Amino acid sequence: MNSSFTKACIEIQNGGVVAFPTETVYGLGANALNPMAVAKIFQIKERPTFDPLIVHVDSIQGLQDLSIDQNPYIFKLAEHFWPGPLTLVVEKKNLVPDLVTSGLSTVGIRMPDNELALNLIRESGCPIAAPSANKFGCLSPVTAAQVKKQLPQVEYVLDGGPCNVGIESTIVMLNENRCIILRPGKITQQDIEVAFPGVFQFSQNSSEVLVAPGLLKSHYSPNKPLYLLPDNFENFPQKLAENSGIILHKKESFDWDDRKLVYTSLNQNLLEVAANLFTALHTLEDEETVKQIYIASVPLRGIGLAIMDRIHKAAYRYLPSIP
Ligand code: TXA
Ligand code: MG
Repeated sequence: MNSSFTKACIEIQNGGVVAFPTETVYGLGANALNPMAVAKIFQIKERPTFDPLIVHVDSIQGLQDLSIDQNPYIFKLAEHFWPGPLTLVVEKKNLVPDLVTSGLSTVGIRMPDNELALNLIRESGCPIAAPSANKFGCLSPVTAAQVKKQLPQVEYVLDGGPCNVGIESTIVMLNENRCIILRPGKITQQDIEVAFPGVFQFSQNSSEVLVAPGLLKSHYSPNKPLYLLPDNFENFPQKLAENSGIILHKKESFDWDDRKLVYTSLNQNLLEVAANLFTALHTLEDEETVKQIYIASVPLRGIGLAIMDRIHKAAYRYLPSIP
């Protein structure tokens, strides 16, 4: 085990914070059972304390240790989809500090599908509370360098290379046989239906009830204007100002002149689009000549739903009009 990893485990044990990779995005972690440690996460991220954190565990046992939820399907979902990008919102035990859950009686828990993350939890010997490792409201990081860009004060950043899913986990909550998808992600309603045929009635994001206060409409935004390209944007490129950056998800044949183009995929492979989405936004955010960013849509199927959720939140201030 290398020394930076060992130091990171000791940092967690001593009540410090460590940024680490998961399969979705990088997290900023601390001992979930130590409120003083958890408070540092809120401070570094400048995150309001009404926005609860996800707790990361290294096993189903980790879920059992934190949950008093009686719904048997919670464990069935965990057994089926973990390790993986599915967060389960469950009734919590008292040992989970209120700061982690913003005073809610429930806690979001997941087991990440990333060896470095699992080893960090195991070797630190505690569940790790971790939101995405970005400043509140800014773009999520999917590389260690993107973490350092936004949070230079974090001393321990474990580098596991780029995250392979690239967008945050699906968050679900069960209410008897109702499955509420609070945040779409790589694991879709259809995936859950296929795994558990006929078991659940689904509803999507009930953010009007604000059970997940972090599910704000505006989130994950770059620090310059972001606009959605209309579907007929072939007729449109000449009208975009030259200092525009453009994010596309498939190769287009027309001429974009000197405008800065970034592709998330050349053939609209949606898994590839998700994996490259935040890096495309970070790239154009960092590009000094680019004053505003335009991004194309993807179809609302499979993980496309989660991709469009993130794009809409990132562009929220600038929807729906294109200047
Ligand atoms: O993929 C992910 O989930 C990443 C990686 C690091 O695991 N984490 C992540 O955390 O996206 P964060 O803090 O950026 O988003 C957590 C979301 C928030 O919107 C929060 O409101 C919701 O989870 N959440 C946490 N606990 C909740 C609860 N008890 N009830 C409802 N929503 C909850
Ligand atoms: Mg986040």
